[in-house]
Amino acid sequence: MSMKALVLNGPNLNLLGLRQPEVYGSTTLAQVEASCLEHGTKLGLEVTCKQSNHEGQLIDWIHECRETGAGIVLNAGAYSHTSVAIMDAIASAERPVIEVHLSNIHARERFRHHSYISKVAKGMICGLGPQGYLLGLDALAKILESE
Ligand code: DQA
Repeated sequence: MSMKALVLNGPNLNLLGLRQPEVYGSTTLAQVEASCLEHGTKLGLEVTCKQSNHEGQLIDWIHECRETGAGIVLNAGAYSHTSVAIMDAIASAERPVIEVHLSNIHARERFRHHSYISKVAKGMICGLGPQGYLLGLDALAKILESE
């Protein structure tokens, strides 16, 4: 069976490259997604990329992973710091999640230091920019191989 990975981005990440480039860099979401697809191929992962600004949509896509068997590389944006609902969705989907943040959330405002996603994620990568997504896929491939 093929190993599937969902690269899921949350609110405001559609504006990557334009939004606060001093914090998030100049790489666009389309470029991040293209490099995830390319890297996934090397790892033997079938990668799908999705982005939404809506909490319920993100939750629906996480639930779908129960059926598809995909693992998830997730940057939930600001919902990471607020959403018990996304945390519960991850727990309900029973699929491995690697949490990613472009910026180092621990070096920023205090309200960004806590993440609900971290409570249910296999691991978390932050502060490494777009490379974090590729490292997330590396980790996910190892986890999916061992399933
Ligand atoms: C982010 C960090 C969050 O605090 C912020 O709300 C984002 C992006 C990151 O990738 O660094 O939208 O998840």
